[in-house]
Parts: sequence; C-alpha cells; structure tokens
Amino acid sequence: MTTYSLRTANPAKTRADAVVVGVVAGDKGPRLCEAADEVSKAYGRRLRPFLSTMGVTGKAGEAVKAPTRDEVNAPLLVFVGLGEDPADPVAVRRAAGVAARSVSNAASVALALPSETPELIEAVVEGHRLGGYTFTAYKSKQSEATEPTDVVVLSPVARRAEAVAALERAEILADAVVLCRDWVNTPPKDCTPPLLADLVAAAHRAVTKGRGAPKVTLEVFDHERLAEMGCGGILSVGSSSESPSRLAKLTWAPKDAVAHLALVGKGVTFDSGGLTIKPSSSMVNMKGDMAGAASVVAATLAIARLGLPIRVTAFAPMAENMVSATSTRPGDVITMHNGTTVEIANTDAEGRMLLGDALSLAVEEKPDVVLDIATLTGHMQLALGDKVGAVMGTDDQVPAVLAAGAAAGEQHWRMPIPEEMTERIHSSKIADLLQHDWVRWGGGLYASAFLREFTDGLPWAHLDIAGKEMNTGSPYGHVPSGATGFGVTTLVEFARALAADAG
Ligand code: BES
Ligand code: MN
Ligand code: ZN
Repeated sequence: MTTYSLRTANPAKTRADAVVVGVVAGDKGPRLCEAADEVSKAYGRRLRPFLSTMGVTGKAGEAVKAPTRDEVNAPLLVFVGLGEDPADPVAVRRAAGVAARSVSNAASVALALPSETPELIEAVVEGHRLGGYTFTAYKSKQSEATEPTDVVVLSPVARRAEAVAALERAEILADAVVLCRDWVNTPPKDCTPPLLADLVAAAHRAVTKGRGAPKVTLEVFDHERLAEMGCGGILSVGSSSESPSRLAKLTWAPKDAVAHLALVGKGVTFDSGGLTIKPSSSMVNMKGDMAGAASVVAATLAIARLGLPIRVTAFAPMAENMVSATSTRPGDVITMHNGTTVEIANTDAEGRMLLGDALSLAVEEKPDVVLDIATLTGHMQLALGDKVGAVMGTDDQVPAVLAAGAAAGEQHWRMPIPEEMTERIHSSKIADLLQHDWVRWGGGLYASAFLREFTDGLPWAHLDIAGKEMNTGSPYGHVPSGATGFGVTTLVEFARALAADAG
C-alpha cells in the first residue's frame, strides 16, 4: 500500500529515496518545472550541462535517472518529460505515470511536478497511482520491484482545503480504475458471471460499510430471476455456458439528486464467439469482454464516494459466450425483455443481446440520460485503433461524452448511425429485428442502430471501447500493459458535468 500526501517542502532538502523532477521542453532547451525551482538553484550553472550530458530533453514520455552527490539531499533524481506545456493536466498525468514506473526500489518518493492547482494535483496523484499499477495476483514469485510506501506531492498549495480535496478525488478515481483493471485482468475461469457478481458484491460492501459510507444498493438477479423478467437476450448468450448468467443493478440515489443517469455495461466474461466461433487469434483477449460492466460498476461506486448529487442506476448484465449443445444457433429467434423479437444471424454479435435487455430495463427507470459502454465491435477497433473510443447516440449527449473524455484525459470520437441502418436492422423475414447482416463494413454502426431500438428515444450515448480495454503493447503514460480501465474516468466526469449543469 502506498500512502499519498501533500507537502510544501523543498525538493532539494527532502530526504526521500528519490525525487521526481518534471522537465519542460522549452524553446531554449530543457528546464525544470516551477515545483523543482530549488533543484535548479541547487545545481545552478551546472544544471544545463548536467541535463545535456544525461540526454534530458523534456519530451513527453521521457524518464532519466541520475544519482546525486551533494547537490540535493535525496540520493536519486528522476527527470521526467512534461513536453511543452507544464500546465496541461494530461501531460502531467502522463509524466507522473512514467515516473511511477521508472522508480522501482524506493520506499519514499517525492514528486516535484506541476501541482499549483487542484486540477494538477489530481493529475499527479492519479497518474502516479495508475502508472504504477501492476497485476501480480497470478505470479508465483513476487518480483524484486517494490511499490513505495510513501509518496509526497510537493505543492505550493499543499495546505489548502481544495488541494486536500483534489488528492482525495484522485484516490477515488484511481481506486475505480484499478478495480476495473483488476477484474478485466482476471482470467475468465475465475471471472465467470457468478464470480464476477461476487466481486461486484465485495466491492459494493467495501464502499458501503461503516459509518458515513455512501448508501448504494446492489441487487443481483440470477438466471431464474432473469427468466422471470423475460431477459431473453442475456439468457440466449449464457445458455451456451456451464456458468449461469447474472445481472447486477446498482442504485445511488442521494436526496439532493439534480438529474438521473442510467449506465449500462457489457459483461461478457469470455467471448469465444459461440457457434459462430472466433478464429484462435481473435479469442486471446476475450476475457476483457466484460470491461463495460466493470467500468459502470467502478464508475458508480466512485460517483457515490464522491457524493455527486446525481441519481445513478447502473446495469451490468453478465454472461459467458461459449460453444456447447445448448448454444444459441444462427436462425434462432429470441424475445427480448421489452418484447422485441430478434433473429440471430451470428452468435459472435452477442454483446447487443445483453445490452438490448439491459437498456430496456434502464429506460423503464425513466432516467434523463442513458449511457452504455461496451467492447462491442472489432470494427471500431479497426477504425480508431487502441486509444480512441467510438461514441454514437443522440445529438444532445454525444458532445457531452466527448467533452467528458477530454476533461478526463481519454479520447473519444463521434461515429454516425446512418439512415440506411434502420432499414437493415428491420430486414428480418421472420422477426422484428435482424441481429446481424453479414455486410462486413460498418458493423459498429449497425450495432449502434440495433441498440438504439432499446432506448425508447431517450437521450442516449453508446461508447464502443473494443480494443481500448486492453493494452497489448508496452506501457505508456499512466496506462500499463494489460487492462487499461478505459472509460471509467470519462463516465465519472460525465456524471460530474451532468450534476454541475443540471444543478
Ligand atoms: N467482443 C467482440 C468485440 C471485440 C473485438 C472486443 C476486439 C475487443 C476487441 C464482439 O462480441 C464481437 O465479436 N464482435 C463482432 C461483431 C460482428 C459479429 C458484427 C466482431 O468484432 O467481429
Ligand atoms: Mn462476440
Ligand atoms: Zn463480445
């Protein structure tokens, strides 16, 4: 466990094992950020040649370690690049993340990064916690690297109440992202729908226990209840698996709520494709197909811990998409929770079956806005890559998601739902809707048009995060390899903005 604290201390005098120093890539060469002024002074005229010898340029993503002699008290300085704009929270979050990974054996670390405002303090703490994330539950030997026990953020405004509040906010957001990452990283055998529902229950208990804890209610619907509720979509996917399906519903209903937000997240705990089986290489990361469900649960708990004055009803439908004698077949017709019938064409287009049921449950609550988030289509991964999410939906909500993403430091891009899709999803000869039509292009748009049928015309946005939930490459910024937690902070920020605008 790492403890984070704020102090106004001098970075040159602190006795931490390592001091992280932000470097700005200025037009006249690299310079240390304001928070590290005392370090600049301690080196005086020797700083320039020293940085130059070490190859420090200040460019984003850079980290250079240097042992000290008697210039400063700490034995190690870590220079991390901030790029050109030291006031940009995105750059600061990234630098703090890089810093967390560069220091592997210090018990105490001091961070001399831009932190003059609450927003920057939040970025520093969030970035450092998330960049230092590791998932070691399945390693038989613990690695040599240890996380620090103490991290001190050196800030000129350390004693202000807003600064302390920013630190707390950052910890709550980081907790939420970590929760999501842990679940997405967990092997699918240990994260079946019943086990994921247990994890949700444990996380809910941890947040709601004790005096003064936020009141969030959790209901878990099992297979029998889902059958009574007519959730044919969820059950049609789960029928293939030995593990029965679940639906978790979380409610945060503070008395001062100024708006009602419904969240829906896809929870396919493993996606083999079903009878329309995936090629082997496409199946590799399909334990992450429950990232949407994980992110709505994590975001809802964070919103409650932050005490945001907004009512949130979150739905996390969970099923495992497997191959068996009880699998749904292409050609089957499924009746969804809202009575709509769907002709199945491709059992690998299973996410929309879970979401259709959960969206229709969500709109029954008459929320002001519905957001759904899902690793829904490879098409959106192909179109936007592994760092930019796709957003479709009503004209009033899509810009709000894009803005929330920008504020949270996650990038999303609007995609359209073309007119022709309406006709195509209604082209089944025997049912109301056709689940999939085998036209290979534009599949993410088709999926969105399909989901829209279950939103009852309410203000709605759909986040297709396929490929964003897992980083299959090297770590960058505050994002490690493996599960990323993409979407969690966008959802929380969306809720914060909705509360601010409605209030
Ligand atoms: N879970 C996948 C989508 C996915 C792809 C997630 C890559 C993460 C990374 C989804 O259920 C799926 O299989 N989608 C199909 C849609 C198609 C059948 C319309 C796909 O991507 O091919
Ligand atoms: Mn699939
Ligand atoms: Zn899937």
